[in-house]
Amino acid sequence: MNAIATRSINRLINGALAVKPLANFAKDRARTMMIKRAESIGVYWLDEVAQLRTRGGDMEFNPVWEKERQGICDRTLTYPDYYLTSFHAYDEGNLGWEPALEATVAAKAVHARLWPEGDARGDIRLRQSYLDVLLDQLPQPPATIVDLGCSTGLSTRALQQTYPKAQITGIDLSDYFLTVARYQTINPVDNAHPPDGAPPITWLHAPAETTGLPANSVDLVSASLVFHELPQSAIQAVIQEAYRILSPGGHFTIMEMNPQSEVYKKLPAYVLTLLKSTEPYLDQYFSFDLHQAMVDVGFGQPTETRNSSRHRVVIAKKP
Ligand SMILES: C[S@@+](CC[C@H](N)C(=O)[O-])C[C@H]1O[C@@H](n2cnc3c(N)ncnc32)[C@H](O)[C@@H]1O
Repeated sequence: MNAIATRSINRLINGALAVKPLANFAKDRARTMMIKRAESIGVYWLDEVAQLRTRGGDMEFNPVWEKERQGICDRTLTYPDYYLTSFHAYDEGNLGWEPALEATVAAKAVHARLWPEGDARGDIRLRQSYLDVLLDQLPQPPATIVDLGCSTGLSTRALQQTYPKAQITGIDLSDYFLTVARYQTINPVDNAHPPDGAPPITWLHAPAETTGLPANSVDLVSASLVFHELPQSAIQAVIQEAYRILSPGGHFTIMEMNPQSEVYKKLPAYVLTLLKSTEPYLDQYFSFDLHQAMVDVGFGQPTETRNSSRHRVVIAKKP
């Protein structure tokens, strides 16, 4: 498709999405299809979310959620502007109960198709493929780990299963997600209980770019599926912060969508425009030179390993 045709299609899509009823109709249809598809491959979206919302009780929404959120929320925190927008077709973005209660099943649904089995195990496999790269490339098990953008804890719990002795902190800007993360660690949906004797995970409501953690204090900083949700200035700030909190010799490991994979290389530009309402900064991530940005703040030359047909693991060491 030539540049003029691409621009016209982009204009057409942007125009259509600007019409609220049309955009809402498209969103509702996409959501219904996603839930249906999830249920057909063994991700029981409706049941899992209902179970979580009620916590097994008879109220439509268990008020304990809100009480627990108050305990985790840092009221002094100022959210960056880029975060206060709609994500994943939720108007409230990441700051609400609906996205929080659905985040775990949504991840399972999205990752199911990555592997030939095409079922609910896809998410576990994706995380394992990341951890296998860490096991292969890190010289020793880290004693302290920070999981930036931990959401409801899928990435954090996977790190804990691999490094059961580590002190792990999960950090996120959404106190809703963190509240679900804590709950799902104590009440795992898939029976993946924390390993015996593993220190409890600390859940911290903070921006990944200003964690408040001491300098030179962490062996491993991990950011799994976070950078595609950030504008470039925030990616840069997070890399800088990871460098600051890592001990000398520590590693920053990133698992993310791989813009160089065949799937994304072939993606027509208008698809990125279409995705803008669900992933507002995806185009910024796709055009970001991650390796250079890491080297620029002082990391050694990163390694890059493909861990799925669409994902990559980037690892850099603080000298
Ligand atoms: C797609 S989720 C990835 C979750 C998880 N790490 C995983 O692997 O499934 C991205 C998460 O990053 C969080 N996030 C986005 N920007 C952030 C920031 N500046 N600081 C902390 N968390 C952030 C979002 O709230 C969301 O929970």
